[in-house]
Amino acid sequence: MKIAIIFDAGSDEWSSQDVAAVVSNVHEVRDVLRRRGHDVELLPVRLGDFRWLSRLRRADLVFNLCEGINGHARFEDFVVGTLELAGVPFTGCRHWTTTISHRKHVANTLLAAAGLPVPAFMLAQGNKTPTDFPLPAIVKPSAEDASVGIDNGAVCTSKRALKKRVALMLEQFEEVMVQEYVAGREFNVGFVGTRMLPVSEINFDTMPEGSWPIVSYAAKWLPGSPEDEGTIPTCPADIDHELAHRIGQVARAAWEHMSEGEGYGRVDLRLGEDGQPYVLEVNPCPDLSSNAGLARMARAFGWSYDDLVMQVVDEALMRSQSHRAADVLVSGASAA
Ligand SMILES: Nc1ncnc2c1ncn2[C@@H]1O[C@H](COP(=O)(O)OP(=O)(O)O)[C@@H](O)[C@H]1O
Ligand SMILES: [Mg+2]
Repeated sequence: MKIAIIFDAGSDEWSSQDVAAVVSNVHEVRDVLRRRGHDVELLPVRLGDFRWLSRLRRADLVFNLCEGINGHARFEDFVVGTLELAGVPFTGCRHWTTTISHRKHVANTLLAAAGLPVPAFMLAQGNKTPTDFPLPAIVKPSAEDASVGIDNGAVCTSKRALKKRVALMLEQFEEVMVQEYVAGREFNVGFVGTRMLPVSEINFDTMPEGSWPIVSYAAKWLPGSPEDEGTIPTCPADIDHELAHRIGQVARAAWEHMSEGEGYGRVDLRLGEDGQPYVLEVNPCPDLSSNAGLARMARAFGWSYDDLVMQVVDEALMRSQSHRAADVLVSGASAA
């Protein structure tokens, strides 16, 4: 099969680490696909340059590793939309899922409307600052991911601190969300299509004193920092069957509501004091690197990294076949 891997070509502002992070995953996936006998082409995606689009039309499948264009995450949605319009089979989530999930307050509104447990939240736009929001509260940019804008100051325990934090965040981000702080344990649940992987936990026991047990920007992006060393993932999580079942049920409902069980993703949750798992967010197409969370969950499920990549491929092919079959049925019915 001819498979085109698309990825962000980056920008002049990228550091050598930024480039290496993208390229190393592209190469890992390429190597898996080649080992399985596929003919692989690498297609970097750049702003204003549509050569990738004409070239991918020759592929049987597009493996989408594009997390943005020129480092701008918002363009990820356009790339997925373009793939959908082009009608080529592609890996990962569909346009609707990526677009909605990239605006946390929109996603949370949909999840809450579907009856899913979401911590109370509000949007602080412009000069609007919340006055009577329950404390502690966490302040996060609505349209960012990867813990951008989240550090120890994000959790506010007084009205004054909350007002100050919201004002600070609004200087940098257009839309800022204030959310009830959920104090309990943090879990992640991965999905490939409708298949759920074992529950993973982030352990905060070694977090420096005085730091909130949250996965901050430093925890995700500064290897060796105290926050990185204070956030230790364990998969499978050390939890009893009943709790795993409850977390799994909420995670699955959130995942299927946002993605219709298509593509691959990861649901982040925390336990409330009442033991209720709350959904923090649904991440469509999370990092697929062999050292990232999804691959760890896949290993706990019994899949090698090669298996994970091929499951992602199979899910994409099955989905495109079933969509095609549905199109044939619909056009047959309308012709009759
Ligand atoms: N309502 C909340 N209560 C407690 N911790 C939170 C809450 N929202 C976010 N966090 C912490 O911040 C981290 C990042 O937030 P998240 O909503 O997952 O955004 P993203 O990962 O897209 O930046 C979470 O992993 C969690 O540790
Ligand atoms: Mg998250």
